[in-house]
Amino acid sequence: MTNWKLPPLLRGPIRVRSRHAGIERPQALLDGLPDRPEALLALANRHVVSAKQFDRDLVVQLCRLAASIEVQPSLLRPPLTGKILITAFYEPSTRTRLSFESAWHRLGGDILSITDPATTGIAKGESLEDVAEMFSNYGDVVVLRDSDERSVYQMIETLRVPIINAGNGIDEHPTQALADLYAIFKWRPGFALCDSGDRLRVGVIGNPGKMRTVRSLLLLLSLFKDGVEEVVIINPAGEPFDPGDREALERRGLRLRLEHRLGAVLPLLDVVYINSIAWIGDSFERLTGDISLNDRSALKSGAIVLHPLARGPELDVSLDDTSHNWYFSQARGATFVRMALLTSMVERVHRIADVRSPD
Ligand code: CP
Repeated sequence: MTNWKLPPLLRGPIRVRSRHAGIERPQALLDGLPDRPEALLALANRHVVSAKQFDRDLVVQLCRLAASIEVQPSLLRPPLTGKILITAFYEPSTRTRLSFESAWHRLGGDILSITDPATTGIAKGESLEDVAEMFSNYGDVVVLRDSDERSVYQMIETLRVPIINAGNGIDEHPTQALADLYAIFKWRPGFALCDSGDRLRVGVIGNPGKMRTVRSLLLLLSLFKDGVEEVVIINPAGEPFDPGDREALERRGLRLRLEHRLGAVLPLLDVVYINSIAWIGDSFERLTGDISLNDRSALKSGAIVLHPLARGPELDVSLDDTSHNWYFSQARGATFVRMALLTSMVERVHRIADVRSPD
């Protein structure tokens, strides 16, 4: 080591990203939503595999509980003390696994974590049904990510504890969609009640035929169709929907439009959701085309940008210090959404009072 000068970032306290600090408003969301915790009973001792399992009231109450936890994150009596979460992630993950584990730790529980199926009996031919039987013996909730969309359904056959689908192939990622909506609700609390006056135009850059985050988000957005002017799917390639999926979403009341060029629609969008990765098998595909966002992009004033996955060249770091950056908030809020979800699945609803902020 020849240079004895300290690098600038070591010369003072840790830097605060002041330009976007404080833009989240969990208190405003908490104040704006009716308190109906009985809706959360629908989650008690249930599996969570698909966004199709949720109705509007359930999503709103989950986000309300998440906001109450975010407003007052230190719990007087951690409700999951003594409970064990098993996280089995057979695909790479930063946000999902760590936010689930952070959520469970913050609720007072302990964790068994598997990040490679080759370290389990699966490497010796053990069936998923038998693995699920063992999980039921050792844990109270399972969180599974697997490239094979059938795995979570196979495990349900024998599981005796709830399982959460944290991404099954290209099929679904329902808790990511909950985190996406939580970010949108905090930005625009009226949207949760579909009474914000102006309806939102949401742009989804991605491929609903191959991207599980997009599929689950569209399902949840359809529950709030009265607050959505339209969802514009921006995909440079051809038809991005699997046969029948677009029609099914339209039957749920979602107004959908396809665009091949981002520039044609970007200045009109209130929410820009950008996802360029589809994890397929043991690898990933990126959205083709040269779609990208930076601080010179023609974003509408006040528009927010969400990005659920690992960043690639489609999202330039120059956007980080702008008010459009809600992707950090989206990732941070996932912990509170997952705390709300986990405690609702495991706890009886009266215990939710323990994590609600005082009136
Ligand atoms: N949202 C999401 O699935 O991100 P990770 O791959 O980092 O878990």
